[in-house]
Amino acid sequence: MTPYEPEQIDRIVVLDFGSQTCHLIGRRIRERGVYVEIVPGETDPAEWFSETVKGIILSGSPASVHDADAPYPSNAIYSLGVPILGICYGLQFTTHTHGGVVAQSSSREYGPAPVSIHDRHPVLEGIGSRFLSWMSHGDAIRQLPAGGSEIASTVHGVPAVISIPSLAFVGLQFHPEVTHTQNGALILDNFATRVCGARRQWSVQDYRKQLESEVRERVGDDNVLLLISGGVDSSVVAALLLNALPAEQIHLMYIDTGLMRKGESAEIGTALKALGAQNLYLIDAADDFLTDLAGVADPEEKRRIIGDMFVSVQDREVKKRFPGRYLLAQGTLYTDLVESGHGVGRHGARIKGHHNVASPLVQAKREAGLVLEPLAALYKDEVRQLGSALGLPVTVVGRHPFPGPGLAVRILGAVTRERCDILREADAIYIQALRDAGLYDEIWQAFAVLLPIQSVGVAGDSRAYGDVIALRAVVSRDGMTADVYDFKPDVLRGIAAAITNRIPEVGRVVYDVSGKPPATIEWE
Ligand code: XMP
Repeated sequence: MTPYEPEQIDRIVVLDFGSQTCHLIGRRIRERGVYVEIVPGETDPAEWFSETVKGIILSGSPASVHDADAPYPSNAIYSLGVPILGICYGLQFTTHTHGGVVAQSSSREYGPAPVSIHDRHPVLEGIGSRFLSWMSHGDAIRQLPAGGSEIASTVHGVPAVISIPSLAFVGLQFHPEVTHTQNGALILDNFATRVCGARRQWSVQDYRKQLESEVRERVGDDNVLLLISGGVDSSVVAALLLNALPAEQIHLMYIDTGLMRKGESAEIGTALKALGAQNLYLIDAADDFLTDLAGVADPEEKRRIIGDMFVSVQDREVKKRFPGRYLLAQGTLYTDLVESGHGVGRHGARIKGHHNVASPLVQAKREAGLVLEPLAALYKDEVRQLGSALGLPVTVVGRHPFPGPGLAVRILGAVTRERCDILREADAIYIQALRDAGLYDEIWQAFAVLLPIQSVGVAGDSRAYGDVIALRAVVSRDGMTADVYDFKPDVLRGIAAAITNRIPEVGRVVYDVSGKPPATIEWE
């Protein structure tokens, strides 16, 4: 991981005990200009503490303090002389290890819980006497730790905010990092700036200059290969390389799986050439992918086949073109490292495998010290800001997320070239209509899905069976939860008519009104 090097920049360190929302803590604070680093919760402070660390946050955890292998930080954190914020589990083990009692809560609280404030504390500055918090805990404090006082409690009488002045500790039973907690971002900002006195010194624009000089120093006269996926992250790395290095050293490879959106491959080529790309290799591997996918309907099987094929095409093409030494650049983000278990402690549940981190080519390159991951300290929204600063067009930087397996997980049932074409066309009509109506940027992710059923309709005087397209549009901050986008009925009606008029195979269009949870954003 690339740490943010300048010694003089203030930072808050988050100790990660495996909570799935841990990286949101970092993101919320960085959104307001204070630099944050997340480190595995049990790491020795000697590895991360310096005088630039102004405060420490202890994250939540799926564990209970009473579990035999519960993750604990080094006891030394309590004598480093900087304020500490404990969130949920972080509050509970500080209580448990400092003379208090934590027990299974008689009222397990999951979801919204009103909190009443009894006492003032700088962490609650600017918040009224009551607010709605988001809880997710089985354990709660029965008895306060030594020297502890209750600042706020829930309606069930559970301590919601406590302070231990002798340790410069403040603890929250709820999760301020999730958007459902009212004023949650303000609480985190209060901790960073009011309690810890950290200065707002973090900006992506400043970081850009540093990244470019780091890239130049690291690469020297070597060649760099970057695999472009069509997504925002690899496009931003490409733009960064093209800004930092002579174009002849940069080699950009794009594997067209045949499962991309309409016009995507051409659009990417155009954007990269506009930034000065000279060595651009567009590999048409649609036959390889579609042949292996023939007859496969199971979504996980589709994902596995696509992942394997991607690795094998990548290997074949790279060997063919790059026999000598080169660096491999990747668009790995901070969240990718955290989610794949690289950024968290041994207790962090592995959420999803990420091919950036796991593929054999990458592993071999990593062992040889030849992987370049310039975005590894950044969050997605910061990557978008960096992309704009580097001159990428808004059509690339603001593009909705697209899953690695592409249209294959949006064609329910077996994938064929014909079904890809039908879906590609429907998706393009839908997305263009959103752009024309000025709605594209209001929506976090929108796409069409081709269902594995046929439905009856009328064509002239006779009955006809046609394909069914489902439209999806959600608003979200990070894809972890999502709400349905509320279209005006006329807009949906217009899109449905355009799709059925222009694609003869499609007889019916439906709109998916499910939130996440319980549904996921993708259908497979
Ligand atoms: P779900 O469907 O899990 O999606 O609510 C959350 C976000 O992740 C994307 N997604 C994927 N991205 N490979 C990816 O690279 C995948 O297999 C995959 N599945 C879902 C999805 O598009 C959404 O943005």
